[in-house]
Amino acid sequence: LERNLEGMAHTIMSNSFGKNIKVTIFGQSHSPAIGVTIDGLHAGLSVDLAELNSFLQRRKPGQGEYSTTRNEPDIPEFISGLVDGVTCGSSLTAIIHNKDTRSSDYDQIQDIPRPSHADYTARIKFGENHDVRGGGAFSGRLTAPLCIAGGICLQELKQKEIFIAAHIIQIGKENDRNFDPVDVNKKDFEALNSAEFPVLDKDAGNKMLKAISEAKEAGDSLGGVIECAVIGLPAGIGDPMFEGIENKLAGILFGIPAVKGVEFGNGFASAGLKGSENNDAFIIKGDTIKTRTNNHGGILGGITSGMPVIFRVAFKPTPSIALEQDSVSLSKHKEVKLVISGRHDPCIVPRAVPCVEAAAAIAIYDVMLG
Ligand SMILES: Cc1cc2nc3c(=O)[nH]c(=O)nc-3n(C[C@H](O)[C@H](O)[C@H](O)COP(=O)(O)O)c2cc1C
Repeated sequence: LERNLEGMAHTIMSNSFGKNIKVTIFGQSHSPAIGVTIDGLHAGLSVDLAELNSFLQRRKPGQGEYSTTRNEPDIPEFISGLVDGVTCGSSLTAIIHNKDTRSSDYDQIQDIPRPSHADYTARIKFGENHDVRGGGAFSGRLTAPLCIAGGICLQELKQKEIFIAAHIIQIGKENDRNFDPVDVNKKDFEALNSAEFPVLDKDAGNKMLKAISEAKEAGDSLGGVIECAVIGLPAGIGDPMFEGIENKLAGILFGIPAVKGVEFGNGFASAGLKGSENNDAFIIKGDTIKTRTNNHGGILGGITSGMPVIFRVAFKPTPSIALEQDSVSLSKHKEVKLVISGRHDPCIVPRAVPCVEAAAAIAIYDVMLG
């Protein structure tokens, strides 16, 4: 811990994303507030605040068996950039006050890092100044401001007939069916956006909920996979190599805490197929060109093909579990047992669904403005 980090970047934390708009997220889990600043939004955009609030409610803690019992209303307060629900051209900043903090739960974590959380790496990087309470700046709570920015981008994309929705495709060992990669449509989206537990197959959803409550009962946690689709994107958006749509999406999706994998179209499964099995034949559909199948997930060479953009995001199980775990005391340089108190999500995945939609909306809106 005393290692000399002189010369290494150990103080700068860049929390910004975007090229045409710039989304900057700030705050910590137990600071007075968390929030977001969006630079580069055009003046005159209408934000439907009721719609934005109901989007944020989908991520809010304190709902269902799968969520932490931390009780936060998560209503944003716009402190600049918005006048009577319309952007005025200056930086848009919104904050959410943290109300239900219990910082004493984290006293021991300062010295004994939680396995698979960021306590250890943050302590190495930021030293004793790191705000460990509630996971500090590494907390899933920071996805609330992500959802404010994403909720606004979703509304703007909707004006352009571009729609985004996601569902839980896997929790632990339980699986939902996939989106139809060729024909996923707005009807599926409407049902998912208003569902309390967004799955395509209700029976699969019930099995997932049971698996979460069993894990919770056992003091354990579960991970899972979210599948997301973007429809209405015209062909020809994006750039090759480093500025591709895959790069943009992956870049922001990996910003969501606990994301450990992102795959597009057939993803890792395509590695086991022959070209003749994986290739998507071109076909004429009316006056446009489409593909018969969509193993490419709507992106070829980093550029949209006009087919639905489909990707899946893997979340690891929540690191903070109630079971006793092995860790170390940093001050005593000694192996110790750790029992975590505090309130945690037994499964992050249900609350992360709007976070994935929000992240995708920010990335796509940013590219569309280019
Ligand atoms: C919506 C959401 C809620 C989360 N809730 C918790 C939680 O209650 N307890 C916990 O230990 N981790 C939680 N996490 C995950 C941690 O923040 C994350 O695993 C940690 O910061 C380490 O980052 P990494 O997993 O990306 O490496 C949550 C993540 C998200 C997206």
